[in-house]
Amino acid sequence: MENKLYFQSLVSNEIEAVESRMREQAKYHHDDLQAALDILIDSGGKRIRPNITLLIGKMFGGNIDSLITLSAAIELLHTATLVHDDLIDGSLLRRGIPTLNSKWTPGATVLTGDFLFAKAANLAAETNSIPVMKLFSNTLATIVNGEIVQMFSSHCNSDLDQYYKRIYSKTASLFETSSLAAGIISNIDEEKKEFIRLYGYELGIAFQIIDDILDFTSNQTQLGKPVGGDLRQGLITLPAILFFEEYPNDPNVKEFISQNCLPSNSFINPLIENIRNSNVIQKSLDFAKLHTNNSISALLNLPDSQYRDALEQMANYVTERKI
Ligand code: IPE
Ligand code: IPE
Ligand code: MG
Ligand code: MG
Repeated sequence: MENKLYFQSLVSNEIEAVESRMREQAKYHHDDLQAALDILIDSGGKRIRPNITLLIGKMFGGNIDSLITLSAAIELLHTATLVHDDLIDGSLLRRGIPTLNSKWTPGATVLTGDFLFAKAANLAAETNSIPVMKLFSNTLATIVNGEIVQMFSSHCNSDLDQYYKRIYSKTASLFETSSLAAGIISNIDEEKKEFIRLYGYELGIAFQIIDDILDFTSNQTQLGKPVGGDLRQGLITLPAILFFEEYPNDPNVKEFISQNCLPSNSFINPLIENIRNSNVIQKSLDFAKLHTNNSISALLNLPDSQYRDALEQMANYVTERKI
């Protein structure tokens, strides 16, 4: 990313250190693991989660080495979930480059993901904080459980409460941990911990709502990953939930639901097009904005500082982003 935003500029040196720490993890292992890890790191990514951890940790004067280790653990865990997610979804592109599963066998892809999970756990242990290690493993369990729920029980489900549970599990839980673990490492009091936990939770919910909107409104070139896949897989996200609620008699909606959300090109493409061009995109953005504002409100309970300003800017960036 060329022109760094303010929030990025405050932690850019630490982010470089985080990337080196991640890269080191394949040392003394099979060359192909190192090659895969290098490709994953070089392909970029927004590094939102380590940015959160570092900004919060620096805001509270936490130990920089521990924060770098923790951030590397979190970003590596995130990377591992992407490796498995793309295999599960059959996605061929991520961050504008071919995914591991597009080149390797499913077996090799699963094992690479497993290796990254193991090394992420090891990095979490290197923080020497048992509460952080517990939080870390519980978060991974929450993410995996969420993916199982999505696979077995969410097909064609357009219940808003279930949607919120799902996006908490798959995304907001790790944002929450990125925040809270930084607070734990920095030894802050319980009241402050609760405000930063809330910041991460609300930001994570907003982040996944925007991801779900972009799946309708963006294109593969801009996003660097396939679009339109959620509905095609029978996964009903916020824009679709709101569209079904508002236009229950739309012929494409009726057809889609009556066929148990199975993709059939005759109506799925017009349905995606109609959702994309409707008012539900703005309504979904309003939902995201609400959560962004909640995250900023949580933040404003903490002492004023340049890091707090940066975290506020990051929250707005999450809602306005196009990638
Ligand atoms: C993608 O996360 C997976 C979701 C939780 C939506 P990011 O959008 O943070 O992915 P990168 O790391 O920037 O590629
Ligand atoms: C991915 O959510 C969440 C995890 C990686 C656990 P998505 O499936 O929406 O992410 P993208 O859109 O593929 O990045
Ligand atoms: Mg996916
Ligand atoms: Mg998505």
